[in-house]
Amino acid sequence: MLKTTGLIAGHYECRSLDETLPVFTDLLAMEVIERKSGEATVKHPNTDWKLIVHEGGPGAPEKTFDNHYGFRVASHKEVEAAWDFVEANKGKYRLSKITKPQSAHFAYSIYFREPGGNHLEIEYYNPGGALHGRSHTAGHWQSAITSEQFPGRGYLPQAFTHGTLQCDDVERSRRFYVEVLGLEIAAGFNTAQYIKHPASPWYVVVLQRSPRQYLAPVNRFALQLGSAIEVEQAHREFTTNGQSLGVTEVGKLETSNGASNFIFSDLDKNWWELTN
Ligand SMILES: [Fe+2]
Repeated sequence: MLKTTGLIAGHYECRSLDETLPVFTDLLAMEVIERKSGEATVKHPNTDWKLIVHEGGPGAPEKTFDNHYGFRVASHKEVEAAWDFVEANKGKYRLSKITKPQSAHFAYSIYFREPGGNHLEIEYYNPGGALHGRSHTAGHWQSAITSEQFPGRGYLPQAFTHGTLQCDDVERSRRFYVEVLGLEIAAGFNTAQYIKHPASPWYVVVLQRSPRQYLAPVNRFALQLGSAIEVEQAHREFTTNGQSLGVTEVGKLETSNGASNFIFSDLDKNWWELTN
């Protein structure tokens, strides 16, 4: 098993940074912490993992609803306020497929699609969920952001809580996440499971689906290891024994300034990155 020290980033493909970044900053309280040609890093003030947004151009594919990212508000009524605000501003931000507030699994949420081909969610989670085996519902922020920090919307996105993946077989994938990637299962219901790194509250919802969509490597999650040597060891291990572990493809090892990383594809052909 890898001794991963954290789930530190998601990578996400959009069409145009100029269209997609305002959705993150203006509707979801994210901050752009780095921007270079074709790529930007956004971060929520209450959440330490980052989202690295890649500009794929007009041909970047439409992703399904099962590959959304989600943000949490602190009350039920803020989901309704978010729906009002998103509806009122859908023209300005080119949003579509906006769903009315709906309940599911202790959550109450809306979804919408941004012009880069991705779905996003604003949700409220009943804190009672944490008492019913849903540990992923708790502990996403220490101090709440205030309406002075995010004025005029009627809702406050308090944390960047989750990403989402599809898989072929929930039992098989669960073993891979725990036994190979060093992640833990936070909760599971039927064909959905919630995986996370033990060190942090944010999580990835994995949904068993057939048929399903396969994503390009630019859409992936990044896991951290303690040193460049460990990344290099993992690369050797995956290159020689990957097949038996459930690794289906291994990218080139990249090293610069004491940092090493590589990407790989898992048993569901979902992409991951290992870095230090
Ligand atoms: Fe979600």
